[in-house]
Amino acid sequence: MKIPISKPNLDDEEKNAVQEVLNSGFLAQGKRVAKFEEDFGRYIGVTQAIATSNGTAALFIALKALGISPNNKVITTPFTFVASASSIMHCGAIPIFCDIDPQTFNIDPNSLEKILKKERDSIKAILIVHLYGLPCPMDEIMLLANQYDIPVIEDCAQAHGAEYRGKKVGSFGKASAFSFYPTKNMTTGEGGMILTNDDELGKKCRMLINHGSNKRYHHELLGYNFRMTDIAAAIGCVQLKKLDESNQKRRENAEFYNRELSSIPEVKIPTVPDYALPVFHQYTIKLKQHRDDLARFFDQKGIGYGIYYPVPLHKQEFMYQIGRDGNYPMAELCSREVFSIPVHPLLKKEELEYVVNLIKHFYREGFN
Ligand SMILES: Cc1ncc(COP(=O)(O)O)c(C=O)c1O
Repeated sequence: MKIPISKPNLDDEEKNAVQEVLNSGFLAQGKRVAKFEEDFGRYIGVTQAIATSNGTAALFIALKALGISPNNKVITTPFTFVASASSIMHCGAIPIFCDIDPQTFNIDPNSLEKILKKERDSIKAILIVHLYGLPCPMDEIMLLANQYDIPVIEDCAQAHGAEYRGKKVGSFGKASAFSFYPTKNMTTGEGGMILTNDDELGKKCRMLINHGSNKRYHHELLGYNFRMTDIAAAIGCVQLKKLDESNQKRRENAEFYNRELSSIPEVKIPTVPDYALPVFHQYTIKLKQHRDDLARFFDQKGIGYGIYYPVPLHKQEFMYQIGRDGNYPMAELCSREVFSIPVHPLLKKEELEYVVNLIKHFYREGFN
């Protein structure tokens, strides 16, 4: 049996939507992008939505539009995909890492408060990541951000539709960024979205992704071409309609794993705090021992898994080059223990059972 760690949930509806765009002859940004922006903004519950070429561009432009400039400091987590920090560095700014809560893998509000107390005048923004589809503790984060008057940017690349106390992530901060990469909970091939309730900020983002212009061949700002195509947006509109059902399926798959894996002493199943409705972009267990052996066992059996992320960002080579290191013990611990297993909505019952039996077999009989 071969089971991939992720699989985009695509069928004839997406194919027909793309075909329609191809038939129209208008492939670049047009009415489908406008429709996707409107639908996605309404779904999350914000007024401004700006589609982009990918999630990294969405993060970078949100930071740029907020005025993040060379040598500014922006707090973020070291336990995330590289783009959360590289988007800060592309502004010439400096990521200040904040350690995580090892139960949730998200930024720890106590560590955040310590950094804010120490560096209150030099921090220009807080970039949080709702990792694996689990919302960050937003009450605590927003309280601190308001107290110190620092804007929050939400990296929602892994959390489409996730809710914190009944409110969708991506609607809490000054701006948020989504990714529609094919492994995500919904996809457009490549693609991203910036969301905000601030009209001025939204307008600036829209100009920045379109050569700094809102009137053809007149350029008020130094901009970029980070536009989404109508081909991508046509896929996005269909994918958005399926999102709630896909997320529900992910939660059901996660519940099945919870039931089956919680009795294995070597396996720590994911924690979901009361405040969260997660969307299980990943189902990530923690293994104190033998993680790499289990990974080899999965490889041998053709079953997909992921180690997100094996090297925390402060330990990445390109960070040493700019002289940053530091001590983030929880991020380092998690990078040694995490192991994500397939949880995507297309998994069949027998595939879920196969994955569970593989893990049970491994911890009963060892690696053979
Ligand atoms: C947490 C996080 N931030 C940012 C990104 C960047 O998104 P993209 O790959 O669309 O540029 C990703 C996904 O790849 C991600 O997982």
